[in-house]
Amino acid sequence: MLFDIRPKEERKDLYDRDKEIDEIRQSIERGVWIAVYGIRRVGKTSVVNVAVNDPNYIVIKINLMRMYNPRRKVYARSQFMGVFLEGINNAIKKYTLGGRAIRYISNILGTDEKSSIELNAVRIKTRLKKFREEDVSSVVREIDQLAKDNRKKLVLVFDEAQELMRVNGINSSSVFHDIYDYCKSTTVVFTGSMVGLVEKMLKELEYQKPFFGRYIRKIRVERFELNRSKDFLMRGFEEEGIKVGEDILVEAVRRFDGVPGWLTFFGAEYSFRAKHGDSPDLNEIERMAIEQVKSEFKDFLTSTQSPERYSAILISLDRLGGRGELRDVTKVVNALLGEVPEPRVHEILNRLVNLGFLRKEGQEYLLPEDEPDRKGLVEASKELSKGGY
Ligand SMILES: Nc1ncnc2c1ncn2[C@@H]1O[C@H](COP(=O)(O)OP(=O)(O)OP(=O)(O)O)[C@@H](O)[C@H]1O
Ligand SMILES: [Mg+2]
Repeated sequence: MLFDIRPKEERKDLYDRDKEIDEIRQSIERGVWIAVYGIRRVGKTSVVNVAVNDPNYIVIKINLMRMYNPRRKVYARSQFMGVFLEGINNAIKKYTLGGRAIRYISNILGTDEKSSIELNAVRIKTRLKKFREEDVSSVVREIDQLAKDNRKKLVLVFDEAQELMRVNGINSSSVFHDIYDYCKSTTVVFTGSMVGLVEKMLKELEYQKPFFGRYIRKIRVERFELNRSKDFLMRGFEEEGIKVGEDILVEAVRRFDGVPGWLTFFGAEYSFRAKHGDSPDLNEIERMAIEQVKSEFKDFLTSTQSPERYSAILISLDRLGGRGELRDVTKVVNALLGEVPEPRVHEILNRLVNLGFLRKEGQEYLLPEDEPDRKGLVEASKELSKGGY
């Protein structure tokens, strides 16, 4: 179903994206590593899921968002190990991979083979400390060998890869270089919405081993164009057996500005309400989306060192009509807050770009164009500035 709000797994549930899927699959066939970029909710996880859904691949998905916490600057190594082993275990179960990989993990953790498969992150928390950096690449090597013996490709997906940089006590560069050098049947796929940070991470890989980063193929997942957005909604509603007026479709396309996650959310909510006899209301559904962004962004703001400055910068951009150059933003911020030095405003704007909240085009900084994100960011900022301006 197109309007299933979970990340898609099957080709039939994914709208379009043939080109991206082809690129990913070709890269895997050739062992070329990939970075899949895109703004939040654009469909990175879905595109990768569908592309790697193939009986010739053994896929290990490491969902780094499981560690995510905006209040923490760094993650403990054991936390990463938990997420890593969870990915390994899911793969072992799904592909019924027996043998050496499990034996290896059980040995390190001091568990018997059976309970390693039933690994419960809480129960073995203290044991995870025994898992060292070298063990990560050793486990991958074991599974790479297994894939090779079975004439399969191993695909290692690091979802939201920028989080790797915050893991304490793991040198991810050396882990990846090791995998690159020794695991010839393995392709690594990085995804990330914090585009600037993923690029920084890949640069660090390159820094430690020149040219390495250049061999990583970059694939950008874009928002749907207007016609595609409308077609997506029409097909989705057709699947659901719901009739929706042209005016609502046009208005939804305008407000959600081609962000697949919002279109899907809208379609799902609208269909649900229509089927249950409620009269679905676009404003109400959009409000739910705004609240979601707002609460996530408030969490982020309160984790920064100067929530007032961050808020003032976003409010200033809004007052400037959603876009502005550094100099203009600084002027408005100063009118709101009093003197904030331009370099500091610059630093915060760039951080917001790196984290994927704002975009930069030429010299201009831009608020997101879709309504839930733009309103969510601005309303969170206004609430945090306690209505002061
Ligand atoms: N091409 C598509 N066809 C159908 N549904 C899609 C498509 N792309 C994304 N979606 C839907 O949009 C939502 C977001 O997708 P997904 O989680 O894959 O995006 P993401 O870029 O990984 O998001 P996040 O930044 O939150 O990790 C999900 O509900 C998913 O089902
Ligand atoms: Mg994702």
